[in-house]
Amino acid sequence: MKQPSVIAPSILSANFAKLGEEVDNVLAAGADWVHFDVMDNHYVPNLTIGPLVCEALRKHGVTAPIDVHLMVKPVDRIVPDFAKAGASLISFHPEASDHIDRTLGLIRDSGCKAGLVFNPATPLSHLDYVLDKLDLILIMSVNPGFGGQSFIPAALEKLRRAREIIDRSGRVIRLEVDGGVKVENAAEVAKAGADTFVSGSAIFGQKDYRTVVAAMRAAIDGA
Ligand code: DX5
Ligand code: ZN
Repeated sequence: MKQPSVIAPSILSANFAKLGEEVDNVLAAGADWVHFDVMDNHYVPNLTIGPLVCEALRKHGVTAPIDVHLMVKPVDRIVPDFAKAGASLISFHPEASDHIDRTLGLIRDSGCKAGLVFNPATPLSHLDYVLDKLDLILIMSVNPGFGGQSFIPAALEKLRRAREIIDRSGRVIRLEVDGGVKVENAAEVAKAGADTFVSGSAIFGQKDYRTVVAAMRAAIDGA
């Protein structure tokens, strides 16, 4: 069943020189979660932020869910560090873990919700035997590594399929989309079955976060 929609701004496009303030402002503007992109210059060709920054946001007073998207390889070593740093959800790419089932168990045992992320060319068959260990399925609508890329339309069909799988299972699993999501395509993405919307450049690229978050919410809820 589809759950209430969540807007999760990706702080990859925030001003890192004043990250705490940026996060406070986007949450005050009506966003629900903080999407936290972790890149290692190994699994993806870019390098970003780690557990210290997650912990710093918690110490700064952020209480909203922190949605950690791990684009790192290996995965397992860093999971407990993020759990300790205050992550709420931790997602990873199946290609980056040698033992997907074990990694999902590790995330849940650390007290976080667990998600599996699907690159544009990664088949959904990775879901076949692990649905019972998942709280979130993340469909990438760009290739991971950078903000500001264009939405890949084939992600819509993949979202529809993932929505069917979730609904057939009867389980409470969020369906998240990440990459190139903006006000103009949010309704179409919602219609395809997503209930959790990551958006980076389309939100942080605007001066007025409240207006853009409200417009995105209206597009999603009106879909
Ligand atoms: C890409 C990241 C995304 C990215 C989204 O690897 O996972 O979260 O920041 O940014 P936009 O919304 O600009 O595509
Ligand atoms: Zn992401």
